[in-house]
Order: sequence, then structure tokens, then C-alpha cells
Amino acid sequence: MSNDNENRYLTFALGKGRLAKKTLELMEKIGITCEEMNDKDTRKLIFVNEELKLKFFLAKGPDVPTYVEYGAADIGVVGSDTIIEEGRRAYEVLDLGFGKCRMCVCGPKEARERLMHHEMIRVATKYPVIAKDYFYNVKHQTVDIIKLNGSVELGPIVGLSDVIVDIVETGSTLRENGLEVLEEVCPLSARMIVNQVSMQMESKRINDIISRLKEVL
Ligand code: PRP
Repeated sequence: MSNDNENRYLTFALGKGRLAKKTLELMEKIGITCEEMNDKDTRKLIFVNEELKLKFFLAKGPDVPTYVEYGAADIGVVGSDTIIEEGRRAYEVLDLGFGKCRMCVCGPKEARERLMHHEMIRVATKYPVIAKDYFYNVKHQTVDIIKLNGSVELGPIVGLSDVIVDIVETGSTLRENGLEVLEEVCPLSARMIVNQVSMQMESKRINDIISRLKEVL
């Protein structure tokens, strides 16, 4: 049993894009590197560090909690927006402190009035679970939620919706499209999540990584 465990790879699922880059930079600080991943032209999907018995793969953000829940990855790194939206079973073990942004209700300033008066409004969003929870459970307001898959700011511009619920980082997408933050739903950042069984079976290796990360954060 102990032999099996020693030879077992710990697998990381990283959300593609900016978060993955930041995560790898952070891992480097605790001596965890993956040379193979630095090759920009590679079409490989999974990368191995034989020496440390680690594997890394890049996935679409919303799929990261899925890989972790099913144990196809022991550890995942993804935004808290995605963790809340997907509602998968996993332990959230660390706030990595980067990828900081806010989930907000945004729209043209005229929409502020309609929001205040609890009128029946249309809300376009990539995050229907978060939007529904906010309007129904926090604001006790009935709204019509329309799911989009990106460029959500188009919603109010082309007349699909009154407002949007979306991520605001620098605010420049809003500014350039004549929209503004109307209400803040919650702050967001990158989180590390761990499969519940892995947390028991690989507690030594995983806790070691967590405590070393805490030291450099
Ligand atoms: C995100 C988000 C906003 C934008 C916010 O979109 O949905 O559109 O970034 O960033 P800012 O406040 O710094 O302008 P993303 O680039 O991930 O693409 P998407 O619109 O396809 O979701």
C-alpha cells in the first residue's frame, strides 16, 4: 500500500489562461516546475514531472471542479466564480491571492432606477447560478435570467437584457462600452481545490504543498 502511494502521481488540473500562468509561477517558488509546459507550440495536453511524480493538465475553467470532484485530478486551481457556479464537491484549501476581481451587476446608468424599484428585469450572464442566488436569495427580487457564453456586455448594448452579472477586473470593458457597476455581488480570486478522497489518501504530500504555498503567499 505504502509503495503504491509513493509511486502514485499527484495530478493538477489548471484553468487555462492567465490563472495557469500565475499558478505555475507560484509553484516555481516552492520548487515545483514543469519544463514541458513552457513549450508554447506544444499540442500536448498533459505534462509530467517524473522526478517529483507530478502531472499537470490544462482544462477549460468550468471543467476543473469536475475533474477534481471525480478524482481525475487530485488538485485544481480555478477562480472562485467557477467554484461557486459549478457547485462540485471538493475541498477549497487555499486562496491564492491572484486573479482578484469582483462579480458585479452592471448596466447602463439608467438601469439603476429599475434595479432599485425591484422591477422585473432581464439579466444576461455566464453565471446563472450566481445571478439567481443573488437576485432571489439576497435581494428577493424576481428576474428573468438569460444564459450567455461570453462577451456578456453585449446584452444591454443590443437590447437583449437590462443588466448583466459578470466579472469586473479593471473595469475597462465596461467603460469602453458605456456600462457601469451598479451593484457588487462578491469578491473573487483564484482558489486551490482538492479531491475529498485524495485529501485523505495523499494527505502528507498535499498538506506539504499547501503549507509551502502558504509560506510564499
Ligand atoms: C472577462 C469578463 C469581462 C472582462 C472584465 O471576460 O467577462 O468581460 O473580462 O475585465 P475588465 O474589467 O478588466 O475589462 P473574458 O475576457 O474572460 O471573456 P468573455 O467575455 O468571453 O467571458
